[in-house]
Amino acid sequence: MKILVVGNGGREHAIVWKLKQSPSVTQVFCAPGNAGTGLDATNVDIKATDIPRLLKFAQAEKIDLTVVGPEVPLVAGIVDEFLKADMKIFGPTKKAAELEGSKTFAKELMKRANVPTAEFRVFTNAAEAISYIDEKEHTERFVVKADGLAAGKGVVVCSSKEEAREAIRRMLLKKEFGDASTRVVIEERLEGEEVSLLAFVDGKTILPLEAAQDHKAAFDGDTGPNTGGMGAYSPTPIITQDLIDLVVEKVLVPTVHQLKKEGRPFRGCLYAGLMLTNQGPKVLEFNVRMGDPETQAVLMRLKSDLGQLMLATAEGNLDSLESVEWDPRPSVCVVMASAGYPGDYEKGKPLRGLEEAAQVPDAKVFHAGTMKVGDQIVNDGGRVLGVTALGDNLAEAKLHAYQAVKCIRWDGAWCRKDISDKAAGR
Ligand code: AMP
Ligand code: GLY
Repeated sequence: MKILVVGNGGREHAIVWKLKQSPSVTQVFCAPGNAGTGLDATNVDIKATDIPRLLKFAQAEKIDLTVVGPEVPLVAGIVDEFLKADMKIFGPTKKAAELEGSKTFAKELMKRANVPTAEFRVFTNAAEAISYIDEKEHTERFVVKADGLAAGKGVVVCSSKEEAREAIRRMLLKKEFGDASTRVVIEERLEGEEVSLLAFVDGKTILPLEAAQDHKAAFDGDTGPNTGGMGAYSPTPIITQDLIDLVVEKVLVPTVHQLKKEGRPFRGCLYAGLMLTNQGPKVLEFNVRMGDPETQAVLMRLKSDLGQLMLATAEGNLDSLESVEWDPRPSVCVVMASAGYPGDYEKGKPLRGLEEAAQVPDAKVFHAGTMKVGDQIVNDGGRVLGVTALGDNLAEAKLHAYQAVKCIRWDGAWCRKDISDKAAGR
């Protein structure tokens, strides 16, 4: 198979790298890719959102399967355009991708399907939203969310009514997120530990992947601002087989069934972000794609043919595949970031030590925000690398990952030092 991977982050580099090892795959392209995907595949200079040009390229190159990494092209309908042209593609259609594209749609669908989630109300009018907050007694704890895609920044977790009112004003009056915040969802704030479960779904069959846990806060001990994810490890002792079974039964099955019933069959990767509350797991959000950096940690452990798995998902015959094989060894992915991230940062700093890092046993450096300039690889994003390693146990996987991290330097490079420590003591 010839495969085109769409996207340019660490997740896409991990997908490209694993597909290259798949016996069913002969050639991999990545559009637009980064300096790392350029080493493991052929980069194609087309933006992930330029659907017409992506389709033209896939047709001209006779691509057998296109794999879409990020949510933006999915929500924009890339899958629909490819299917109309009779091209195979991994990911949900525009109607199914609304599960991530509109938080209102997701919450209302969960209500119809009886999927456990936080209580919520939807508002388009700021005055009404504010009086809802004012009138709520016995609680100061709310979460205010922009309805549409806001690159992970459209969620404000509040500890007081004033914070909630301010978030409402920013979204509905100041339109800080543009069209994405013409509607807001106000939820009760849930307490508990956060986990995510990812599954390949082919419309009917649900295949959960090995569990991974993200680290969303910028700094050690889960302090500092929220980020896209500063590291991940897999498997995680928090997500037991019993919990996976429970989430499949209470969340994934009813969601997939409800989508199908409403004429929006889901194919691709369904990602449930969950809070483990006293009353059991509740859904915080759905994503309609693989997680980043969870994918780096999870694919490091995949032994089966990823090309076959993705093709079967796209074709709707996951049930015909043999069971998926995983490396029992744990993996740890440490994100190295630019100075200033998740705020502003400078680009164009040359990276050193990538060759040395590549010598560390059982380690792989996935590129996220990198670019090749002449002979040099420079930083080109906030999250720059996902340094990922395996080990006989979690402590060893962590050691290998940080050994590789130590080899790599650029002006302002930093990372969390405690990735996977959450698992300790469990
Ligand atoms: P989302 O993009 O909806 O997952 O929200 C981003 C982050 O906000 C989540 O990863 C949680 O940490 C937090 N969050 C979202 N909804 C809630 C909620 N109802 N209660 C507590 N925290 C939440
Ligand atoms: N790691 C969180 C996400 O991919 O949305």
